[in-house]
Formats: sequence, C-alpha cells, structure tokens
Amino acid sequence: MQILDGKKTASDIKEDIAVEVANLLASGSKKPHLAAILVGSDGASETYVNAKVKACERVGFDSTLVRFETDVTEEELLSEIEKINNNSDIDGLIVQLPLPSHINEMKVTEAISPKKDVDGFHPENIGRMTLNSPTFLPATPAGILELLERYKVETVGKHCVIVGRSNIVGLPMSILMAQKSYPGNCTVTLTHSKTHNLKEICKTADILIVALGKAEFVTADMIKEGVCIIDVGITRVKSDKTKSGWKLLGDVAFESVKDKCSFITPVPGGVGPMTIAMLLKNTLISAKGKT
Ligand code: GUN
Repeated sequence: MQILDGKKTASDIKEDIAVEVANLLASGSKKPHLAAILVGSDGASETYVNAKVKACERVGFDSTLVRFETDVTEEELLSEIEKINNNSDIDGLIVQLPLPSHINEMKVTEAISPKKDVDGFHPENIGRMTLNSPTFLPATPAGILELLERYKVETVGKHCVIVGRSNIVGLPMSILMAQKSYPGNCTVTLTHSKTHNLKEICKTADILIVALGKAEFVTADMIKEGVCIIDVGITRVKSDKTKSGWKLLGDVAFESVKDKCSFITPVPGGVGPMTIAMLLKNTLISAKGKT
C-alpha cells in the first residue's frame, strides 16, 4: 500500500508557485492577488478561508479577505462581487460556500466573473471543463487528478466509482475521470444517496473516490483488493487522545481498509492540502493571463 501524500505534494507545488511568483516580480509584474469573501462565522468555513489566506502569504501572493455578517443581503454581496470583478488588481475571487439560506448560491456563483472564478464553479467554466477545453478546474477535483498523475496511478479502462454527487466534487470528478486524457479514460459510476446496492458497486471499483461527508462510511467489506482510494471527507469529532480534544476523520475507515489498498489518501494530509495548492495554481494562471 502506498500513501498518496497530499501534504508533501501540495508543499512541492507551493514551492514551484513561489519560484514563479519571484520570476513574475523580477520581470516587473505585480503579485498575483486572491480575494475571498466569507459570510458569517461557521467554524469549518473560517478554518478553510484562513488556510487559503495563509497559503497566499506563503507563496508570495497578495490576498484580501472580505467578511460579512450572516444577515448580509444578497444585494450587498452581489455589489461587493461586482466591485471585485472590476478591480484590475485582483486576479481571483472565491466566495466560501455554503452561504446562509436567504442567499441564492447559484446567483452568487454566476455573478463572479468567469475570468476570476479560480474555484471553477461558474457555469461557463463547468461547461468548458465538461468539453475538455482550457479553464479553471474546480480545486478539489484538480488536486485529485494531480495526485493520481504524480503517483502514476493507472486509470485507463479502470472502473472509477464516485460516492457523492456534489457540484464541488462528485459531479465534476465523474466528468473528469471519464475524459479522453490522463488521468481519465475510466469507466465511471457516479453513486449517491438513492443508489441501490452501493456496497456491491463499491466492491467493483478499481478507483474509489469518496465524497459524501459521513465519517468512516467506507469499510473493508465494501472494497476489493488492490483498489486505489481517494478520501475527500473531513469530519471533526471529539477525541480524548489528542491535545486539542478533536480529531479529523475521513469518509473512509482508514485502519480497516489500508491493507487492502494499492494507494490511499490519508485524512488529514491527503486531498485537503491539494485543494489549496490547486486554488493557488488557478490564481497564478489568472494573473499570468494578464501579464
Ligand atoms: N466550500 C467547501 N469547499 C469549497 C471550495 O473549494 N470553495 C469554496 N468557495 N467553498 C467551499
């Protein structure tokens, strides 16, 4: 079994990005600049956004964090997005999801300029991704592709089973793994909460991508020998074994499955750090597009 080390891989990617930033500055260009909008103070969203801002600093990007209270109106939010769309100093804009229920997420996503949509969530960019034309790929799926490629995981003709059909992970992942490219060329099954015989389907997977948000959902009896597992889940649970009193669990019961796998991503240190690295990569691409 080989660990797909997202922490190390993300760190290598960030080093490469830092070198590219230094080269940009040396040639007289400005620093790449990412803006993030955070609504409310949900603990997980706060952690993710802070990690993104910190990662910007580490590679030499500028970053702007715009915070709104939970009761911000949709109009106020859309007006801030419009301001950032028109600010030529800013290369990338993300609005951290989920948003409060009184705000229409699709309207917000569509308001972000596709040219600054470094999350790759805008319908125009999802369309480009679907047709395999150059665009910003959503960061988590892009991070998974990068891990598969760097660890030379074979994908051609393999059965890739995806658990969870979210717009952010499962859905785009199903499109990317079926594409005529590497990593890709898989036969893909996209499963979800209404799928019959989920366990039997998972057992036929050569590559199993799990993104449903239920701690330790996948166990050893649900997989076949030699499977490559990508675990996208992160659930924080109480623990009396850690100093903080909390630990992070994936959607896969790691200890139970690890000896049956060819490859597996750990949680933490697997997909999570890759998501941030790919967001930075998209922001760099956006900045370079203008230079
Ligand atoms: N919420 C969970 N994941 C993401 C992400 O990748 N981007 C944004 N904007 N919100 C998220």
